[in-house]
Amino acid sequence: MRIILLGAPGAGKGTQCKRIVEKYGLQHLSSGDILRQERAAGTELGKKAQSYMDSGALVPDGLIVEMMARAINKAPESGFVLDGFPRTVNQAAQLDESLSSSGQKIDAVLNLQVDEEIVDRRITGRRSCPECGAVYHIENLKSKIEGICDNDGANLVQRPDDTHEVVKNRLKNYHEQTEPVVDYYKNNGSVQDIDANEGADEVTVLLFEKLDTLVSV
Ligand code: AP5
Repeated sequence: MRIILLGAPGAGKGTQCKRIVEKYGLQHLSSGDILRQERAAGTELGKKAQSYMDSGALVPDGLIVEMMARAINKAPESGFVLDGFPRTVNQAAQLDESLSSSGQKIDAVLNLQVDEEIVDRRITGRRSCPECGAVYHIENLKSKIEGICDNDGANLVQRPDDTHEVVKNRLKNYHEQTEPVVDYYKNNGSVQDIDANEGADEVTVLLFEKLDTLVSV
């Protein structure tokens, strides 16, 4: 199964993808996580991406498409769920082209819809584990001990782009460059909208309902 999870910054894509991969045995391919790994490893790609990411701008398509094509090629037979990619119409068109050249296609596009008022609170309250990647929230999804990862005891960190100012820019870029991607897939008749304003567990139930239908076909 090959899935795309769309949604604004803070919609809950990363949180839900972790649950989807656990239930359906897919690989989670998050363009944001891959870029952060490249940065941590000090690669050329990571260095090039840094200033775009820190200001909330999109990293140029040329860098992203190649990076994601490499990740998709390594994905297992069971399939993958894409998180944060594609984020421009050009990325979506190039993804379609590269999948169809290997006889593959996207099976479902799920679009997490969230009200803008709650995005800022979700994002500025996010804390993550630099060791295992677990994601928490200071109010909604607390770690057992404040500031410490439940899984490995590492100190939780805040992403440098999770500030009010940068969130504003990320949302602006989402409206200008990523919302057209939703329309791109709507024109193919393949988008399923999901209300992502409720708590994470309620959103998971809605997503699993859609995906269970797909698996049973
Ligand atoms: P990326 O890492 O993809 O960030 P994003 O899209 O802005 O998404 P987020 O990770 O902020 O949000 P999310 O929807 O995953 O929310 P989460 O589940 O963590 O991209 C970062 C940067 O990389 C971009 O700005 C760009 O520069 C670059 N980039 C990446 N991909 C690119 C591409 N394709 N092209 C060009 N550039 C690219 O949840 C957020 C918080 O809310 C968490 O604390 C969580 O616990 C909490 N939460 C989640 N769901 C709920 C809920 N239902 N109720 C209450 N709290 C919740």
